[in-house]
Amino acid sequence: MKKEKLIVFDTTLRDGEQAPGASMTSEQKLEVAFQLDKLGVDFIEAGFPIASPDDFKAVSMVSSSMKRSGVCGLARCLKPDIEAASKALKKAKHPRIHIFLATSKIHLEHKFRKVEDEIVALAKKATTLTRNLCDDVEFSPEDATRTNRDFLFRVIETAIAHGARTINIPDTVGYTYPGEMHSLIEDIFNNVPNINKAVIAVHCHDDLGMAVANSLSAVLAGARQVHCTINGIGERAGNASLEETIMAVKTRKDVFGHLVTSINTKEIYRASRLVSNLTGFVVPPNKAIVGRNAFRHESGIHQDAVIKKRTTYEIMNPKDVGIGASELVLGKHSGRHALIKRLKELGVKLDGDRVAVIFTKFKELADKKKEVFDDDLLALVDQETKPKKEAYALLTLRVNTGTDIVPQAMVKLKVKRKTIEATSSGDGPVDACYKAIDKITKIKVKLINYELESITKGKDAQGMVKVELEVRKKVFSGKGASTDILEASVRAYLDALNKITA
Ligand code: KIV
Ligand code: ZN
Repeated sequence: MKKEKLIVFDTTLRDGEQAPGASMTSEQKLEVAFQLDKLGVDFIEAGFPIASPDDFKAVSMVSSSMKRSGVCGLARCLKPDIEAASKALKKAKHPRIHIFLATSKIHLEHKFRKVEDEIVALAKKATTLTRNLCDDVEFSPEDATRTNRDFLFRVIETAIAHGARTINIPDTVGYTYPGEMHSLIEDIFNNVPNINKAVIAVHCHDDLGMAVANSLSAVLAGARQVHCTINGIGERAGNASLEETIMAVKTRKDVFGHLVTSINTKEIYRASRLVSNLTGFVVPPNKAIVGRNAFRHESGIHQDAVIKKRTTYEIMNPKDVGIGASELVLGKHSGRHALIKRLKELGVKLDGDRVAVIFTKFKELADKKKEVFDDDLLALVDQETKPKKEAYALLTLRVNTGTDIVPQAMVKLKVKRKTIEATSSGDGPVDACYKAIDKITKIKVKLINYELESITKGKDAQGMVKVELEVRKKVFSGKGASTDILEASVRAYLDALNKITA
């Protein structure tokens, strides 16, 4: 039987990055893009070029660097958006412009105040313009699953007639369920006369926890492209996760055996760790495929059975997603070559100067903790590749705390070229540190989230602190790692503050 290709369109760098607090710098986006390319995704949606100069830069950087994956930029059906996307994609080997236009009644009435005929005219104009600038056009009728079907068929037919090669069906608010999604895709095949000239894609959100199920249902009805993100990050509850979608297709060959993807599943775990590290979004321990517990067996009965035959309680092999293959440990006797080799295997590319800095930091860390694991290395690289123009840099931290005293902190920061010091007491040692920093920065900050996790195992493990700060109604996330959790807490706070002032 000839297999059909299921195209994988990754939107971690666009929809994923739209998750509140998940923003990445263009350099970090490039790092993720290299890993996505290694993972084998067909398209990387690298950003929304008109949205900000940083998004434009990220799409341009990814465009000029990807040798294999296609690169896509998002645009509304507006001339300046489409032109910005085309400009940002200029150096891409396989450029694609993704245009979107809302079609549901609620969006037409309240967002656009337009009638259906006006939307059809806009779709025609925008698709024509885009096709003149780029050969590969993807069109999304936003909120498709809440759109009147006859109107949806009309818009899709128009977009295809004017040059769209892919029609993406977004479940923008995660409203549909698998049976309904299946019938919607079937209806599109049966009611859009020129549908054979386009590939049908799906883009599912997870508001009701059905994003992956809906995507797979669409695939069973004939969709041949899936939009997904690493770790399922995205607007609100997120998008269909790449790792779950792909592993379902791979594991259930009895259902999806007629399909083939270009994903190298052994790169999944690395991609997951990288995205989690760079965005600060912790992967829940029970998350399918990439969670810490996804392949752990606690009950004695299960453990015993797995030893006898792994497949009694494991439907997938952890090695197939890259878990366990990368637990190589480095220590203080490891040399520069071993470090470079390991970083390369982890998908981290460093130039000569940065290698020297990372090697020094690695030795410092190896002196503090006996074994340096992959996640330690990734945290270290992440810390050292932050933009050098920090508004606030930590010079000294001293904390006095205990069960019978009020915690006191002294923080000394470098602010531009000045050294400023402040002290404060607090409800706890972290609170004292943050209050001292607030005295220096004078920024009104609300701490809305604080998380501490151990990066690796052992008593000497580094702590990773992730914070979310609300400043003038915007959320900024930051993270910091250290073997000292108070230092990690301060570094995380400063990391977020530096994003405010960037
Ligand atoms: O969820 C959505 O509808 C989108 C579109 C831009 C495709 O992200
Ligand atoms: Zn979306």
